Amino acid sequence: MKIVIINGPNLNLLGVREPEIYGSTTFESYLDQLRKDFPQFEINYFQSNNEGEIIDCIQREGFSADRIIINAGAYTHSSPAIADALSAVPAKAIEVHISNVFRREAFRHHSYLSPVVEGVICGFGLESYRMALSYIKDILI
Ligand code: DQA
Repeated sequence: MKIVIINGPNLNLLGVREPEIYGSTTFESYLDQLRKDFPQFEINYFQSNNEGEIIDCIQREGFSADRIIINAGAYTHSSPAIADALSAVPAKAIEVHISNVFRREAFRHHSYLSPVVEGVICGFGLESYRMALSYIKDILI
């Protein structure tokens, strides 16, 4: 069972970036733990600060993955192109956010991705990713 986690711009700086909002854990160390906790999944991880590379990844992985978990960072609020890529592939996607975007600036309240994904998890820190994996485990296994 293949899961692809895609992180968008600035999420390579997790652990360093605004720790009061995003926490002080790097995504790589968190991912190690997720892989241990969900041995039934092959978890592929991709991060890019570039919109086109995220779209390429969705196109490359979206025909063979069982699910995509995507945190598109600020592209969430600006990219119909990423939404179109998610619509173009058979793999269903789950949108995640570390912070509760609805408690933050108004521009973060709109997501181009939400209408095309299976569901949205936001506001639980890095645990948002674990919740997405737990959901997938419950429905697919
Ligand atoms: C984010 C929320 C976005 O608004 C922001 O641009 C990010 C991270 C989150 O995970 O909380 O880069 O997607």
